[in-house]
Amino acid sequence: MDVRKVGVVGCGLMGSGIAQVAAQAGFETVVREVDEAVLRRGLGAIESFLARGVERGKVKEADRQATLGRLRGTTKLDDLAACDIVVEAIVEDRAAKRSLFGELEGLLGAEAILASNTSSLSITEMAAATRRPERFVGLHFFNPVPLMPLVEVVRTMLTDPEVEAVVGRFGVALGKTVVRATDRTGFVVNRLLVPYLLDAVRALEEGVGSIEDIDAGMRLGCGYPMGPFTLLDLVGLDTTVSIAGIFFEEFREPRYATPPLIRRMVLAGFHGRKSGRGFYDYSGPQPRPNDFLWQRLGRA
Ligand code: CAA
Ligand code: NAD
Repeated sequence: MDVRKVGVVGCGLMGSGIAQVAAQAGFETVVREVDEAVLRRGLGAIESFLARGVERGKVKEADRQATLGRLRGTTKLDDLAACDIVVEAIVEDRAAKRSLFGELEGLLGAEAILASNTSSLSITEMAAATRRPERFVGLHFFNPVPLMPLVEVVRTMLTDPEVEAVVGRFGVALGKTVVRATDRTGFVVNRLLVPYLLDAVRALEEGVGSIEDIDAGMRLGCGYPMGPFTLLDLVGLDTTVSIAGIFFEEFREPRYATPPLIRRMVLAGFHGRKSGRGFYDYSGPQPRPNDFLWQRLGRA
């Protein structure tokens, strides 16, 4: 079996990118959101990414049009019924994902594969709650999906090896390099990345350096493409707090504990780039560091 028709659930930061790369790679793709307004925003992000790609000479105009022709947005889950694989990219919340997979199971064909883009939840737990645990994998993309060359394919002890192979070929067909991982919280990349990002917040809280200086330190001292605060703002602070909570629940280690500053930022509506403010303020032409955050709250 190989994948022909792709379903994506969630058209936020990740789901929009996953739907885009699937349609760009030639798959008929249906992406589902909760309501029309959020769906329009997600599809708008795809349209403007492709349009910028054409301006930069990275995407051919004919490919832009063909991609959009293969992509359909919907608010009805039933529209995913004929998909060979459904990639879930909704909020990082165990109960929400579980209820979604319950609904999906009832409408998909027996052979269809379920995949979760979760950053931190257990694939085994989600798979075992379905009636098709052998056809369930983790398929973990990186943000921004169209530009990041990696995808992790995560197997559980219940995954059929043939399903893992099909999903691996699907990842390659999307133009990604596939890394295989077992179901341990964070898989390969987030296991190492998440403590690093949380440590950056702790360094800020302790007054080691400013937002800009810590970012510049890791960019210029280590060659990272983005400093940790720019990256946290890109990932989303709400998503990061959810991820850190799940890591801490699993490992009970201080390095996975959510720093108080970032928790309060989320409570105050600082969700990062997607909400216009996080460690940086995105209202002007250039991002400006929100230094008052750590001066007022971090070291107080
Ligand atoms: N269409 C087509 N191509 C585009 C494009 C578009 N709309 N926009 C940009 N590109 C291309 C550019 O032309 C450029 O290509 P070349 O290298 O061939 O010139 C390339 O993409 C990079 O674009 P930019 O020069 O505009 O941007 P950049 O150099 O600043 O890189 C970045 C942007 C790739 C995001 C880089 O900053 C980066 O790698 N950042 C780190 C991101 C990261 O770590 N992500 C992981 C987050 S963690 C996660 O996702 C897991 C989780 O569970 C939380
Ligand atoms: P996001 O908040 O940008 O988007 C989530 C979207 O899911 C929202 O638009 C919401 O309306 C939608 N949604 C919620 N319930 C839904 C349902 N039942 N049906 C359809 N849509 C629904 O979040 P995101 O950053 O795209 O994260 C999505 C998933 O991807 C999470 O599991 C996250 O951990 C994971 N992830 C995130 C990143 C990242 O850098 N942000 C990277 C890799 C993986």
